[in-house]
Amino acid sequence: MASYFCIILGFLSLCMYIHAEFYVIDDLIGLGRRFDGIGGLSGGGATSRLLVNYEEPYRSQILDYLFKPNFGASLQILKVEIGGDAQTTDGTEPSHMHYEGDENYFRGYEWWLMKEAKKRNPDITLIGLPWAFPYWLGKGQSTPYHVRDITASYVVSWIIGAKQYHDLDINYVGIWNEKKFDGDYIKVLRHTLDKAGLPDVGIIAADGNWDISVAMELDPHLNGAVEIIGVHYPGTNTTPEALSTQKTLWSSEDYSTFNNDVGGGCWARILNQNYVNGRMTSTISWNLVASYYQDLSFGGDGLMTAEEPWSGNYVVESPIWITAHTTQFAKPGWRYLQTIGHLSHGGSYVALTDGKGNLTVVIETMTHEHSTCIRPPLPPYSVSPQNATFSLKGSFATVTELQLWYSKFEFQHSKHTLFKKLQTVKVYAGFLTLSLDVDEVYTLTTLTTGQKGQYTDPPNSSPFPKKYLDDFNVRNPAFDEAPYFADQTGVFEYFQNLTDPGPHVFTLRQVVTQRPIAWANDADQTISVIGDHSWEDVTVSCDVLIETTNSGGVFIAARVDKGGESVREAMGIFFWVFANGTYRVTNDIGGKMVRAEGLSGTNAGKWHTLTLTVKGQWAYGILNGYPLWENAVILNPKNGWAAIGTYSFEYAQFDNFQVLAD
Ligand SMILES: *[C@@H]1O[C@H](CO)[C@@H](O)[C@H](O)[C@H]1NC(C)=O
Ligand SMILES: *[C@@H]1O[C@H](CO)[C@@H](O)[C@H](O)[C@H]1NC(C)=O
Ligand SMILES: *[C@@H]1O[C@H](CO)[C@@H](O)[C@H](O)[C@H]1NC(C)=O
Ligand SMILES: *[C@@H]1O[C@H](CO)[C@@H](O)[C@H](O)[C@H]1NC(C)=O
Repeated sequence: MASYFCIILGFLSLCMYIHAEFYVIDDLIGLGRRFDGIGGLSGGGATSRLLVNYEEPYRSQILDYLFKPNFGASLQILKVEIGGDAQTTDGTEPSHMHYEGDENYFRGYEWWLMKEAKKRNPDITLIGLPWAFPYWLGKGQSTPYHVRDITASYVVSWIIGAKQYHDLDINYVGIWNEKKFDGDYIKVLRHTLDKAGLPDVGIIAADGNWDISVAMELDPHLNGAVEIIGVHYPGTNTTPEALSTQKTLWSSEDYSTFNNDVGGGCWARILNQNYVNGRMTSTISWNLVASYYQDLSFGGDGLMTAEEPWSGNYVVESPIWITAHTTQFAKPGWRYLQTIGHLSHGGSYVALTDGKGNLTVVIETMTHEHSTCIRPPLPPYSVSPQNATFSLKGSFATVTELQLWYSKFEFQHSKHTLFKKLQTVKVYAGFLTLSLDVDEVYTLTTLTTGQKGQYTDPPNSSPFPKKYLDDFNVRNPAFDEAPYFADQTGVFEYFQNLTDPGPHVFTLRQVVTQRPIAWANDADQTISVIGDHSWEDVTVSCDVLIETTNSGGVFIAARVDKGGESVREAMGIFFWVFANGTYRVTNDIGGKMVRAEGLSGTNAGKWHTLTLTVKGQWAYGILNGYPLWENAVILNPKNGWAAIGTYSFEYAQFDNFQVLAD
């Protein structure tokens, strides 16, 4: 549209035709909602598993790109999984109470991650959410709502433990990720928090769809118990019922898209439009950082990628810089203006203020093709180049210049510009015009603090070492898990036998003895995978200790093709020995596709050494140095990880793990 407009500068009035649309930015007509921050989600599950094993300085560099203010993503929220011993997408995370009466606030890596985030940004908002729960809470039922006050105490103990052992103040807690909510449980949880002296810990519910808002309208107690309605993958939209609760609305899990440039485009579009369309004042990315084996479920769906601790290589992907466009220029507590919306030729803009005269405007012009997130489906729309004239009014009428930060995805030549500071923009009599192309992000701001942080390039990418061994004797005291082992069912922890056990003082022990209240479809066997998914011919060897007499059993495996949510269907070459003196070789974790079996003389309470060699389509096994079986034919899979595991949810130990790949 051609507009004729005039600027009056003292006596001079300057009139011109310009092909542009007008957008007013004004705070005097009243403000919009409070901005609550942009966050990342570690867990749901085990998505930061490999991060902890990076050596310095790379590990700190990755954390800086994520959390350090005015450096990279400068995240304002860290949400973590409250581990429940079960598979929650890319692995299991340990519970702080494996068994009734058990309490340990040093398991896993989420405590460490929260402390690292807090160290960099003391104002960061911390959130905990369970996906799964240990068996004992359910007293045999597959729901944590069976005995509501026990579940509530269990969750509250995690919050108290965070403070007591790590000096971490948890700000919000959730219910049960993406499962049907239970209004009575939410009320019990609220009551339990209050009784524990934690009235400031808010409840986010229900981390699923918008249904809870309908229940909240009908039940004032439930409405009172829920502080924030958190919804997942809302497609930037909300519902009339959710709006009418007048509660704070968050997209408490979103993104989940591979972190290439389309992922960056998805993130740019939803960060703006979750507010523009849905009035959601926070968006949290699943996941924080892709630090899990890429061949697990949703490989690479993090704000950046750090999946090679053995090489030190990591990649700062575009979503980091897209996040910076908002987080470096608006803090939680700032308010959105009411003057926000869509651009006439596609794209959107939001404006935020600190109420002290600062203004930040974020504009995105992402095309449909270059910003489609993994879910939900994105209805068609079009975006074309356009001129946009912003007219600054109210407190901003006297602003004479704005800082300009710019990103552009160039899909034709993949030569992108990410978070680049351009020349300061002059504002003439309250007007400024930007010529917007497609697939761009702009931040206009009064703040001069923005910075594109940068470290020298990390080491080159390299595959997992072909020769790897761990005797579990040298351990990082901060962590319970051995490097690179990615538990897919069950939990494998460092163990120290204090009564003289001979050479096996320090071992790795599987500790989940009953099937948890699961979130995904855990296997009936426990399994931890390690190595390179492209490994074909390998020799895997490990000392094993079955602890369960008569019915116990353990395995070592090669070419394990699946984990994550598909762990039950994992295929590979599994070499099992049992406490009843037998062995078996199967092609599947379920143990149905038997390729060899017989007597082994193995028993519980005694260490045995298993060796499995796979070459082409042939496999053979050695027990305690003597050939036990040979020439088992394995046609599929052709490649996969090495693994260890147990026959059922049972205690068992592993020592001197070795793998040698061709
Ligand atoms: C903007 O923010 C800065 C930094 O927080 C502050 O010093 C200043 O007073 C604010 N207001 C204006 C108008 O710059
Ligand atoms: C933007 O404005 C300039 C200057 O008036 C004009 O040449 C150009 O065609 C306009 N672009 C669009 C997409 O309207
Ligand atoms: C610890 O070692 C002792 C002595 O060898 C053994 O009897 C016991 O079973 C071991 N405990 C575990 C849990 O492995
Ligand atoms: C030995 O134990 C395994 C696992 O419990 C079982 O599948 C197998 O049938 C048993 N074999 C014998 C001979 O009892």
